[in-house]
Amino acid sequence: METRKTQVAVPVLLAIMTLIVSQVAFAGKDSLHERHMAELQVVKASLVRRNLPGFVSPPPTPPQAVPGPRVYQVISYGADPTGKADSTDAILKAMEDAFDGPDHGVLMEGINDLGGARIDLQGGSYLISRPLRFPSAGAGNLLISGGTLRASDDFPVDKYLIELNDESSKLQYIFEYITLRDLLIDCNYRGGAIAVINSLRTSIDNCYITRFGDTNGILVQKGHETYIRNSFLGQHITAGGDKGERNFSGTAVNLVGNDNAITDTVIFSAAIGVMISGQANLLSGVHCYNKATGFGGTGIYLKLPGLTQNRIVNSYLDYTGIVAEDPVQLQISGTFFLGDAFILLKSINGVVRGVNIVDNMFSGSDNGVQIVQLDQTNKAFENVDQVVVDRNNVNGMATRSTVAKASVDGNGTSWTVDFNQVLLFPNLIKHVQYTLVARDGGAFPIHAVRNVSDNRVVVQTNAPVTAQVYVTVDQ
Ligand SMILES: *[C@@H]1O[C@H](CO)[C@@H](O)[C@H](O)[C@H]1NC(C)=O
Ligand SMILES: *[C@@H]1O[C@H](CO)[C@@H](O)[C@H](O)[C@H]1NC(C)=O
Ligand SMILES: *[C@@H]1O[C@H](CO)[C@@H](O)[C@H](O)[C@H]1NC(C)=O
Repeated sequence: METRKTQVAVPVLLAIMTLIVSQVAFAGKDSLHERHMAELQVVKASLVRRNLPGFVSPPPTPPQAVPGPRVYQVISYGADPTGKADSTDAILKAMEDAFDGPDHGVLMEGINDLGGARIDLQGGSYLISRPLRFPSAGAGNLLISGGTLRASDDFPVDKYLIELNDESSKLQYIFEYITLRDLLIDCNYRGGAIAVINSLRTSIDNCYITRFGDTNGILVQKGHETYIRNSFLGQHITAGGDKGERNFSGTAVNLVGNDNAITDTVIFSAAIGVMISGQANLLSGVHCYNKATGFGGTGIYLKLPGLTQNRIVNSYLDYTGIVAEDPVQLQISGTFFLGDAFILLKSINGVVRGVNIVDNMFSGSDNGVQIVQLDQTNKAFENVDQVVVDRNNVNGMATRSTVAKASVDGNGTSWTVDFNQVLLFPNLIKHVQYTLVARDGGAFPIHAVRNVSDNRVVVQTNAPVTAQVYVTVDQ
């Protein structure tokens, strides 16, 4: 505050003095003028030297009242950039002033356009003891950036350091186009970092979110289009192979809403990397190496049985896998699964429809872990439709697929091709094609498929023949 006021006051004073000086130059004689000039220079120099805190009373107006850029610098509001004193009130005041700043019309109904106002953390690290929230709903086009927020030892464990929330608002959407950028948020194992509730078009960009408690790093609830990108999230600061990995808890990102995206983001520790219970979300370039599956962790958990409609593409599941409950419309492609990481389809009501698991790479350590597995403890998958698990390349794991080809050679009247080592669903063959190649020169046997139960295709001939039988099936 002090620096800012001084900066404003000095130029004004100097301008007034310059005016006086020029009047003197025109009115007086040369010697008189020179003496006045010298005197004024001395006064001027003393003002500049002393920085005039007591000499000129500072203008009472806060910085944002000055015409010019709407940058709300939190140190000017008394925030302590060393992280020692509690800066909650100071930052809340800056947020309040930004919220009350001149508006530039409206965005969505009820949301004031703040014209690109910026709350600048000025590269400091601030101690926070209560959630940072705007005074109420109804603001948009604003940025908070450039510093570190750390939760105090008494920060409430069920809150978030930054909350875009207003429980009392009747608006359909409460905030729009709020950008949180270049922030390190250290939750001190007390709560979560960011909650975005019922907001539209929110960006979380280049943030490092750590030490969240057994809660969410980021919670996105209702609203839509929260874009989380180029960010790093981990409960514990580790680079993998952590001794305490079995104890990792919490969820790095919890998407309880639709139409969001997580792109180019790393999740380096948490019990669950991304929990999704809303539709039409896109995950791309997400690298999960949070708690390993072997220790009870999950990379990405899709908890929307019956209507999933999510896409996971070009991502990296590193010793931790994907779980999808009754997936209906799900795409998983272009993704690398390392360290026996696999995809588990978990039956709730036995439904799996419109699922593409294609063009991925799987790598394991020859323990026979299947790349895609079924959990049918609740109920068997009975409603299976348009499921394509195919064209995945597999190294050191057991392939599972919904499309398979094989052949058997034999001499006799019956050929059996067993697909149980490959097919994903037990006892399910929806389509068969086969070719019988008879090697006896003169034989033209009559042949037919007799049985496709238990993922075994049985082909029989009317007479003994030496033949190879080629079969293609899909589920
Ligand atoms: C895991 O947590 C338990 C119980 O809180 C604790 O006793 C143990 O030391 C922790 N292990 C590691 C490796 O941090
Ligand atoms: C096929 O089996 C028949 C008898 O079952 C035998 O006579 C014939 O030599 C066998 N052919 C070949 C190529 O093994
Ligand atoms: C088909 O094969 C199964 C065993 O795989 C058997 O239980 C069933 O009876 C067979 N069906 C027919 C029509 O032969």
